[in-house]
Amino acid sequence: MSDKVYIFDTTLRDGEQVPGCKLVTEEKIIIAKKLEELGVDIIEAGFPISSPGDFKSVVEISKAVKNPTVCALTRAVEKDIDAAGEALKFAKKGRIHTGLATSEMHRQHKLRMTAEQVIEKTSFAVAHAKKYVEDVEFYAEDAGRTENEYLARVCEAAIKSGATVLNIPDTTGYCLPDQYGAKIKYLKENVTGIHKAILSTHCHNDLGLATANSIYGAVNGARQIECTINGIGERAGNTALEEVVMIMRQQPNLGLHTDIQTPQLNSISKLVSEMMQMPVQPNKAIVGDNAFAHSSGIHQDGVIKHRENYEIIDPKDVGVDHSAIVLTARSGRAAVAYRAKLLGYEPTKDELNIIYQEFLKVADTRKEVNDDELLKLLKT
Ligand code: KIV
Ligand code: ZN
Repeated sequence: MSDKVYIFDTTLRDGEQVPGCKLVTEEKIIIAKKLEELGVDIIEAGFPISSPGDFKSVVEISKAVKNPTVCALTRAVEKDIDAAGEALKFAKKGRIHTGLATSEMHRQHKLRMTAEQVIEKTSFAVAHAKKYVEDVEFYAEDAGRTENEYLARVCEAAIKSGATVLNIPDTTGYCLPDQYGAKIKYLKENVTGIHKAILSTHCHNDLGLATANSIYGAVNGARQIECTINGIGERAGNTALEEVVMIMRQQPNLGLHTDIQTPQLNSISKLVSEMMQMPVQPNKAIVGDNAFAHSSGIHQDGVIKHRENYEIIDPKDVGVDHSAIVLTARSGRAAVAYRAKLLGYEPTKDELNIIYQEFLKVADTRKEVNDDELLKLLKT
């Protein structure tokens, strides 16, 4: 039996913080409903104290979805927590996500608080949030750069006040996978009362390691991963939901699974990209336009003979109809014959040799040869 990893989607909070990605409540509701269909366990709907619009979004999303937990972000500040409690009052399952920074850097240069003051604030914030909801998640901002021994003390204080989830963000995307995994392992082994809470990963992608760090976190005992559709988020982004979900699916040896309906990954990626006007890079894993496109002759020949030669994921499993054989000057005869067949033509070997020589002349002048151009060659 594999262990379930809860998927906490923060597209509508950390993702929406990105300049240009701002959504209005109606758009957020459309995405929240699609996230519910996708099967996410927790939707972080917004930061209610930050603006009346975000408060309204949390209220309306709470009314609009029924299966996922709806989560609202706060600082470890009384008025933030009160606003979150109020915004969540229609949620079937509501969670307050409160916390503050714990690293020495942030304690000294941002909060200007002592280590003990941070612990006191942790206890206060969690206890105050508990007045509104049973389910309280505590985040230790910049946990990635926080000393493990001190982080363990903060986590203990949060658990004592009733935290149900402990979020260990690598806020600045600083950690290497083995460092982040070791941090989660350390907390699992050294925090008194850790059995009462779920450890959560929340990784940023400044070094391109957000996905790897999240997976190492889960391998070392985290049972919730915080992520966004298409990996959008502050600076270089957050962990991409589609990536961590497909890694757990494709690597059963990890002994981890999620409840995500993977055939919906492609359509939700497009929805979020369009609504947030944030294009997905073509070579993006799982959801990029080229994720299942083959353009070199060697690969095309291999895929046509047996798809698994070059694809570890069946495109249908992530909602893509079929693999694409793209015709370029690097394509071989097998690819030309394959695409000709799709257009209803089956040239003999000799005919194909002639067509192929003409095809190369055209292909050398183009990025890609399209169906119309291929048809012209087939008809001459
Ligand atoms: O990256 C971060 O530390 C955050 C917290 C607010 C959870 O987004
Ligand atoms: Zn974040």
